[in-house]
Amino acid sequence: MVSGVGRVSAVLEVGCGTGNYIVALESVARCPCWGIDPSAAMLSRARERSSNIIFQPGEAENLDFPTGSFDLVFSVDVVHHIKNRVQYFSEAHRVLKSGGRICTVTDSEWIIRHRQPLAAYFPETVAVDLERYPRVAELRDTMSHIGFKDILENTVERSYQLTDIQVYRDKAFSCLRLIPEEAFQTGIAQMEQALRSGPIPCVSRYLLLWGAKSRACADPPPCPHSQPVVPDVDRPAACASAAAPSTGAPPPR
Ligand SMILES: C[S@@+](CC[C@H](N)C(=O)[O-])C[C@H]1O[C@@H](n2cnc3c(N)ncnc32)[C@H](O)[C@@H]1O
Repeated sequence: MVSGVGRVSAVLEVGCGTGNYIVALESVARCPCWGIDPSAAMLSRARERSSNIIFQPGEAENLDFPTGSFDLVFSVDVVHHIKNRVQYFSEAHRVLKSGGRICTVTDSEWIIRHRQPLAAYFPETVAVDLERYPRVAELRDTMSHIGFKDILENTVERSYQLTDIQVYRDKAFSCLRLIPEEAFQTGIAQMEQALRSGPIPCVSRYLLLWGAKSRACADPPPCPHSQPVVPDVDRPAACASAAAPSTGAPPPR
């Protein structure tokens, strides 16, 4: 995901939560990074993980940055929370530099139907999330309407063995809080039974939807007072807080 991002790039993560992805990206790319989220509690945890990144309150529909600020604007598992997606893509287009790129990481209908272990042990989550998540075709149409070019998508996946189901018991995945309690308890009992025979094979999949702001879109002239302030910090050689969770599983979504 950091392809095309270098030390001089400016990157914004929208809906960064506790910083899982922007912290990992900054530790690799070493470029100026910003993360916004409406949740003060999430931002407070994110700030504990990196002082190199500027974390500030904000919502996707109203990006509080000057026009032409960023080389990359991305979000992970956020787009289904955004009520006015036309406004978000319009704002993202505005704050991108000409030639800058947007990346929306989400779940396609196919991914939702084939989630392992969620769809297998909690099949009720499929209908819940098909209702919540926008279709990729709708996102592409909106992006195209706003003026994004070079719209393309790719899927990444990673297999892992689940040995600890505590995040499922804790309903860390929001769709588990939206199904009937009886269905939730049935799924947990089935996971516990499966674990007695060994780790549960799982696959984490994401769809990445990319777009670019045309190079023909003129950026405003540089103005020292209107550009985001680049963090004035020494960047450490490594960022331990970007380490994967102890279960080996991806962060709950
Ligand atoms: C499932 S979490 C994903 C967090 C992070 N991107 C990650 O993958 O670890 C969804 C995040 O979207 C944020 N969010 C909800 N509505 C939002 C909006 N309108 N604009 C920006 N972020 C929003 C929530 O506060 C939450 O942190």
